[in-house]
Amino acid sequence: MLAPVDVREAEVGTREEPPRAVEAWWRDAVVYQVYVRSFADANGDGVGDLAGVRDRLPYLRDLGVDALWFSPWYPSPMADSGYDISDYRAIDPAFGTLAEAEQLIAEARALGIRTIVDIVPNHVSDQHPWFQAALASSPGSPERERFWFRSGDTAPNGWQSIFGGSAWTRANGDGDWYLHLFAPEQPDLNWTHPDVWAEYEDVLRFWFDRGVAGVRIDSAALLVKDPELAEERPESGPGEHPFTDRDALHDVYRRWRAIADGYDEQRVLVGEIWLPDAERFARYLRPDELHTAFNFDFLGCPWEAPRMRASIDAALAAHAPVDAPATWVLSNHDVTRPVTRYGRADSSFAFESKRAGTPTDLERGARRARAAALLAMALPGSMYIYQGEELGLPEVEDIPFERRQDPMWHRSGGVDPGRDGCRIPIPWSGDHPPYGFSVDNAARPWLDQPDDWAPLTVAAESDDPGSMLALYRAGLRARRQAPWGAGAFTWLPSGGDVLAFARGDSFACLVNFGPEPVVLPDGAEVVISSNDLEGGAVPHDTTVWLLNPLGQGERGR
Ligand code: NOJ
Repeated sequence: MLAPVDVREAEVGTREEPPRAVEAWWRDAVVYQVYVRSFADANGDGVGDLAGVRDRLPYLRDLGVDALWFSPWYPSPMADSGYDISDYRAIDPAFGTLAEAEQLIAEARALGIRTIVDIVPNHVSDQHPWFQAALASSPGSPERERFWFRSGDTAPNGWQSIFGGSAWTRANGDGDWYLHLFAPEQPDLNWTHPDVWAEYEDVLRFWFDRGVAGVRIDSAALLVKDPELAEERPESGPGEHPFTDRDALHDVYRRWRAIADGYDEQRVLVGEIWLPDAERFARYLRPDELHTAFNFDFLGCPWEAPRMRASIDAALAAHAPVDAPATWVLSNHDVTRPVTRYGRADSSFAFESKRAGTPTDLERGARRARAAALLAMALPGSMYIYQGEELGLPEVEDIPFERRQDPMWHRSGGVDPGRDGCRIPIPWSGDHPPYGFSVDNAARPWLDQPDDWAPLTVAAESDDPGSMLALYRAGLRARRQAPWGAGAFTWLPSGGDVLAFARGDSFACLVNFGPEPVVLPDGAEVVISSNDLEGGAVPHDTTVWLLNPLGQGERGR
């Protein structure tokens, strides 16, 4: 019988081996996203770096994560914070060197932590040698064939950039048009060109050969474009959109899977796929394509029992036929931090409606974020944690305009608040900025930290048994023991404001979204709860893990 975990007594520093086959580690892994620029700055230039990550590996081991996903660490002019890459086989000098990356991969692995790198195949930086060569060549040249260049007095079509404005810009100011679904500094590649296929296959091998355990594939559903460049039509059917989820994409990922499968130890492919159609989404996870993909429906789901249940059901139902594990994601570097989002009247997330500046109850949001974390940890599949989520950092919404970096903010003319607010440097210790992110007297961090983050530092939260960090450590520790064994997921009967599910016969997770306390079944044992129980009942916005949920077995231990 598993011993109950008390958040206050959470031990750190030891790791039990998970009870699962090594080759299938990714099926239930906890993956921690490192946004290097904001993680830890070892050289005092105000920008996070690989040396900073290496220094903090023990923190990540003690947190209890299985793998690190690094947002792009490659040389980049940073027009989109690293998602504009000029060299896929090197490290940005602001972050370190390739040799350091290799050391980091090996050191993490020695602590039992695998590494996943971010691959951006939809576009390159406008400083990438291929695009520079294309700009230097004449219209119609082979160098331009690797991109989408078109002539004409007006833009070739009405496609809009995801960051706002037209998706077409004139080369060299007055030449042919080129396509960029994101910023003009991110020209889209032409995935009908054999050079493009060969280049990315080589890049995959480059990183796999250096020991990385997998790749996160950026904008994975956008690579293939309609060669006719047809306009978007609201009524287009599955696979008919001119630049999203086109069927030819699957050929690319089958090739990539064959490469990943060529390694003795499993290399995994993780897709960033924003698709509302669950069936189309699951097609990417067929056994000869990607291993997993981010579950953005769950991320965007409001804190409401029926919506959460529907989202969980949809995810499990979509993944089952392809035998892929679902992923449970609450945040990343593109979306509003959960503590803030869950503190609003409408707690859903969508890029079109971030509700920045609307009334926000951060205390309530933090309570719900705690409950959401334990819910995500208890669901079958893998889980992603974005740096700072484990500290309960809120979104920073009052960044002065002149300090904002994100092209999403700039290109929308300030209509979209952008994503800088979830990318603020991590507070590690101390009572004033930079809170141990950099050494004292270092250069100003690339984004400023708020003055009131002293209680949110790793050091402060490590000393506080009621902190978000203590909850994450204890929850992940309990999760590693897999208190559900190999048992199947089933919903348990519950009232409308409550979600309750079992995994196997002796484990249940109960989430109370409503105002009324929920009395526990007689004889059930609490493994962990996201907030204190009140008189033995589960109060509002609280998740609890239970053993013997049906009251059988040992009682009153
Ligand atoms: C998705 C990434 O998560 C985001 O940060 C980036 O701006 C776009 N893809 C373009 O690469």
